[in-house]
Amino acid sequence: MTDGKTNKSNALWGGRFSGSPSEIMEGINASIDIDQRMAFEDIAGSIAHARMLAATGIISSDDATKIENGLNQIRGEIERGEMKWSAALEDVHMNIEARLKEIIGEPAGRLHTARSRNDQVATDFRLWLRAACDRADALITAYQAALVAQAAAHADTVMPGFTHLQTAQPVSLGHHLLCWVDAAERDRSRFADARKRLNESPLGCAALAGTAFPIDRHQTAEALGFDRPMANSLDGVATRDFALEFLSAATICAVNLSRFAEEIVLWTSRRFGFAQLSDAWSTGSSIMPQKRNPDAAELVRAKPGRIAGALQTLIIVVKGLPLAYSKDLQEDKAPVFQAMDDLELALGAMAGMASDLTFNTGNMAEAAGEAYSDATDLADYVVRELGKPFRDAHHIAGSMVKLAESRNVPLAGLSLEDMQSVEPGLTDEVYSVLSARASMESRTSYGGTSPVRVKEQVALWQNRLRERQAL
Ligand code: ARG
Repeated sequence: MTDGKTNKSNALWGGRFSGSPSEIMEGINASIDIDQRMAFEDIAGSIAHARMLAATGIISSDDATKIENGLNQIRGEIERGEMKWSAALEDVHMNIEARLKEIIGEPAGRLHTARSRNDQVATDFRLWLRAACDRADALITAYQAALVAQAAAHADTVMPGFTHLQTAQPVSLGHHLLCWVDAAERDRSRFADARKRLNESPLGCAALAGTAFPIDRHQTAEALGFDRPMANSLDGVATRDFALEFLSAATICAVNLSRFAEEIVLWTSRRFGFAQLSDAWSTGSSIMPQKRNPDAAELVRAKPGRIAGALQTLIIVVKGLPLAYSKDLQEDKAPVFQAMDDLELALGAMAGMASDLTFNTGNMAEAAGEAYSDATDLADYVVRELGKPFRDAHHIAGSMVKLAESRNVPLAGLSLEDMQSVEPGLTDEVYSVLSARASMESRTSYGGTSPVRVKEQVALWQNRLRERQAL
């Protein structure tokens, strides 16, 4: 795509130059392959700027109209894939300005009055990121909706809860799934926070010091949907902390997704046998005909490598840069675009898999009852009914597990005689707490796993999602 003109010096900034750049200079300098993704933001920024220049009498309204019409034409050319991008013209800003010159001639040269590419690129990038935050918001909401629907269907489904990936206590599958809904909500609010802080306009900060032209930065800020113009012109062109914040939010979100993705990998394995993915979300093996692999879940598990890598890249690019703009900052967009592409895929895949999963509730219930997952319930019972301190009760239940293990039976498989040999005060009432379901149902504390509590949370989430029109 480097069909650029081989004009000796650059037409837009080459006044003091007589030679053309070396090929490698052009190669290292050009960002058009990457920043053409901000073309529509660039056009929106330029239209707002041109209108403001006319409103303040800096250019004629006739010129502003020509500029605006020309930019609209370019937008159409880009939409139809007709725009010829040129590496010789470096970046999206100069490509569009050069095309504008071809279309409208002399007035095109007036557009850059009281503006620099430094404030222009910062403006475009903020607009792009603002839209990215909105896309992340919608994708996270769709993912939450998929999880809530499954949680509603499985509030009563019992499964083993794990700590250290060892069977710990029975939990409701709905409860487990709602955990990821809550995590996603925090991710959502991190993007919302990032959006709030980045929604300020750098346009009119010019190269670094502002401008002597009587511009109206409030007008352009408002026209572009920013909350206000940035107060310091150096800050406006120099900072990329807003992109770092976006990448931090993306990284944390990706890390959260990777944890559920890992659970999908485990659950759909034959060893666990907790769930299945349909053909839509499975892949086969090229050598082993029997295989069904959860590739999408594995790839989501891997995404933090790329997304955290993007955050790391930008942190290192920005670190130690003096004020104000330096060309290093051109390296800000590739990691952000890549991270957002990865995140969109990851969120889409997780939403898809979350609704696609079918759960083997029988296997889950069986596993929930294994490995003495009701031992805490026995200890709690001893505290409640026999008035023992929890530490003593813990010891009693531990001895009971040891005895049951030696007999190769679950706790409920011990005879009352056996139980009384450990704790004489026990009666056969104790058997009522010795099941995975009873254990799950008993945990009615706020935030606990009892289906009563889970259904309350499901209802709450259904209301929230309905308000967001996601259900
Ligand atoms: N393509 C550049 C970037 O992305 C635009 C700003 C260039 N400014 C400059 N003074 N050379 O950062």
